[in-house]
Amino acid sequence: TRVLSVTSECVPLVKTGGLADVAGALPGALAPLGVEMRTLLPGYPAVMGAISGGETHDLGKVFGAPARLVTGLLGETRLYALDAPHLFDRSGGPYLGPNGRDWPDNPVRYAALSLVAARIATEGVGDWVPDVLHCHDWQAGIAPLYARESGAKAASVLTIHNVAFQGLAPAAMRETLRLPESGYTSEGFEYWGQISALKAGMLWSDAITTVSPTYAAELLTPEFGMGLDGVLRARANVLTGILNGIDLEAWSPPYKSPRGKARHTAALRQEFDLPESDGPLCVVISRLTEQKGLDMLLDALPALLDQGGQLALLGSGDARLEAAFRQAALRHAGVAVRIGYDEALSKRMIAGGDAILVPSRFEPCGLTQLYGLRYGTLPVVAMTGGLADTVINASPAGLDAGCATGLQVLPITTAALAGALTKLCALWRDRTVWQTMMKNAMAQPVGWDRSAAAYRDLYEALTGPR
Ligand code: ADP
Ligand code: GLC
Repeated sequence: TRVLSVTSECVPLVKTGGLADVAGALPGALAPLGVEMRTLLPGYPAVMGAISGGETHDLGKVFGAPARLVTGLLGETRLYALDAPHLFDRSGGPYLGPNGRDWPDNPVRYAALSLVAARIATEGVGDWVPDVLHCHDWQAGIAPLYARESGAKAASVLTIHNVAFQGLAPAAMRETLRLPESGYTSEGFEYWGQISALKAGMLWSDAITTVSPTYAAELLTPEFGMGLDGVLRARANVLTGILNGIDLEAWSPPYKSPRGKARHTAALRQEFDLPESDGPLCVVISRLTEQKGLDMLLDALPALLDQGGQLALLGSGDARLEAAFRQAALRHAGVAVRIGYDEALSKRMIAGGDAILVPSRFEPCGLTQLYGLRYGTLPVVAMTGGLADTVINASPAGLDAGCATGLQVLPITTAALAGALTKLCALWRDRTVWQTMMKNAMAQPVGWDRSAAAYRDLYEALTGPR
């Protein structure tokens, strides 16, 4: 099966969150299963820099100026970059300009990505024609519609990594975006007087997936569906949850057994200037946004610190949260904070931490709790989305059965989080139980095997027997 993965980010070239990891890992995970996945990415400077000198295909004008498709290799994966300098040749992030606001032409930029994806689905590149278009998030949301309009035979899959980002554009842009007037209805891509690229994807794709079974169920509820739950309920028969995995080579602990961690914990305390302490060293690696629930952690901190626990946090985002964590570090000897983005440091934190905290208000899948499991860094997670699907709670039953791997927080409140942190400290003091939990966590399969097979089955179901 030939699949074109359409994505706005992909490691190691461009990343703002977990989508980049997933898009980067899928082709390699699928190849042994007989799926040839190629990746279409916007030609941001980092992408063009990585594949310069590749074969090019002229695309004519794409939304007002000439564009080309440049092909290259990313490891073993064939990459197509949409080289459209008027849309993508700018410094700054993929979505935000230097002023920290969305690029004003984002609707056009990602419509262009989607349009070119549809064109590849219709005409192919050389003699390579995909059987399936696999579209990630709103940035690729309109591709299934464009593909349908241009008569492509390829089936299409939309994966929702986060329903909070819906790709809204003013209704007046409909013609600019080359969307059919007939689709601008409440049964189509219209959303409260605007155009929604994500809604278009939900309606025009043949199958919808999201990144965990629990989030798939949550998406159907008003509490988590963020206004699109009704649309998804109408398409519930094609919606499934397929759990993300992690790259086991990139995330491989520098120790084989729980005892090997101690040295890394000591090194991490030193690196963060934290004193020796008789309690668990907790780490957080996260975007600092409302979604991640870290404001609740700020309020629950005393429960951790009073028991000798400590916190080392790495993150960036919301200016108020950045300031609040900096303040907390000034106020408490047991709290240390690094504002910024640093992958190497994040690895040392996972290796050295005793526990990793993920108190998200909602979390489609979450990757850092999976890193934690693999490294025996016990996850303390909110009971939602992929966090609920990947951690086995240290409830009395879980402990009795000897299978617990972490703690789950429910309801998702400051009080419940404080309770979990108190419990974490008690568990930490029982070295036998703690070591058993570490062993359980480290033995849990968190790679791509099972989920890659689930994607393969989905592609095959959509394309029929070959
Ligand atoms: P989301 O995509 O919602 O941000 P995920 O847990 O799926 O959440 O993915 C986040 C990814 O980004 C993980 O690989 C995590 O390690 C990484 N990450 C987040 N913040 C930072 C940071 N400040 N420094 C390094 N890596 C980070
Ligand atoms: C989104 C979600 C996160 C998920 C990631 C990759 O960014 O917020 O939970 O792990 O996508 O699917």
